[in-house]
Amino acid sequence: PQPGATPTGDYDFIVVSNRLSVDRVVVDGESDWRRSPGGLVTALAPVMAQADGAWVGWNGAVDEPLDEFDHSGMHLVPVDLSQQEVELYYEGFANATLWPLYHDVIAPPEFHRTWWDAYRRVNRRFAEASAKAAAEGATVWVQDYQLQLVPAMLRQLRPDLRIGFFNHIPFPPLEIYAQLPWRQQVLEGLVGADLIGFQRPGDAQNFTRCVRRFLGTASRQGIFTVTDEDGSERRVEARSFPIAIDAQHIAELAADPDVIERARQIRHELGDPTTVLLGVDRLDYTKGIPHRLKAFGELLEDQRVSVEDCTLVQVASPSRERVEHYKTLREEVESTVGRINGTFDTLEKTAIRYLHQSYPVEEMVALYLAADVLLVTALRDGMNLVAKEYVAARTRNSGVLVLSEFTGAAEQLRQALLVNTHDIDGVKNAIVRAIHMEPREAARRMRAMRKQVLDHDVQRWSTDFLSALQEQR
Ligand code: F6P
Repeated sequence: PQPGATPTGDYDFIVVSNRLSVDRVVVDGESDWRRSPGGLVTALAPVMAQADGAWVGWNGAVDEPLDEFDHSGMHLVPVDLSQQEVELYYEGFANATLWPLYHDVIAPPEFHRTWWDAYRRVNRRFAEASAKAAAEGATVWVQDYQLQLVPAMLRQLRPDLRIGFFNHIPFPPLEIYAQLPWRQQVLEGLVGADLIGFQRPGDAQNFTRCVRRFLGTASRQGIFTVTDEDGSERRVEARSFPIAIDAQHIAELAADPDVIERARQIRHELGDPTTVLLGVDRLDYTKGIPHRLKAFGELLEDQRVSVEDCTLVQVASPSRERVEHYKTLREEVESTVGRINGTFDTLEKTAIRYLHQSYPVEEMVALYLAADVLLVTALRDGMNLVAKEYVAARTRNSGVLVLSEFTGAAEQLRQALLVNTHDIDGVKNAIVRAIHMEPREAARRMRAMRKQVLDHDVQRWSTDFLSALQEQR
């Protein structure tokens, strides 16, 4: 290496994401590791468990520098964040600026220069940690909206690397993206990658339109040429790679006698209702939980369903709890659940069993098996892997998926009952139709969706992305 050049590390393959696969938690005074929330980890953990590489990311704790360590067959390289960085970079710029902006401004995004400064600073730290871990000529795969500046920062430090980026959330239409005061800098950060992956073709198109408008770079079918700082030209491609799950693993759990028994127990504990409806989401305003509750509440009111034979189980796992819009949402959801249960519950039966908790995957699969209908009513969602997990778990081809059109998953799971979440009457009709669907029709739909989910698993997703990245240069 040249004098003054960044030293190289040992790893030929590196994934970089805001969070590692596990979070530092303190239970009864003892610190421990817990699986991180969200679809990104659901998808990437099985990929990394099979790959011989390192995962660079935040350990979920504050001001707690940790050494590299191994966990569940993965080599993890923690990046430390201070309390102030968690507030400005994670809760601020990532989750109160970019998250609402990229999800159709469902909540108004806030623009603060101090948040942007912290975002840049923390992105640089992630780039430096990745540069240090990467061997000469390694492949580095950067993940998601929290780290959009990392590709260009990393390229500057280590021009020898092959750099991929994947955005797990939607990329907004130009008219919305244009609001971002740092719209040009963010795009410059992203085009540091050789390949930029999105969930839907529409996201890739939104991105290339923004690149043309704000960087002045025209593209043909998602391919464009970028001039780097040293004057050299580089080919960059933007296209869609819809993310998937470890479908085989979910199907195996669904066939496990202990999980099957647990599913039976769950139904029994719910009072053996004729129909169990299920919702599973991070408690996030993009998930359309209030819309779902409104639809269900009205169905009870209209007496189209009754607590005697129908229960809705809503798992809402805690998420970003210190961010204002999440606090307001929690209050709204919990008061609505209280109101509906107060009105319709009997001493024996409950309308909604609300669980503000997260569960291990075995319990989730038992819930999928126990549920006759899964309700996914997001207002906007990059993919929604819960929908794919439900399908993978329904090994007997029973069960109905009600799925919002505004999810990436709706482009692949065409045989679901697709709904426009804003159309409450439409959601109500879909729920009633799901409850009464003939087993033959349900099986025909589920079989087709299972084929899709089992054929396109997460290993295939990562292989598709990584081989396209290899071909880039
Ligand atoms: O894919 C969306 C995503 O934001 C991931 O990047 C993230 O890890 C997950 O959802 C959960 O969110 P958080 O890490 O903020 O708890």
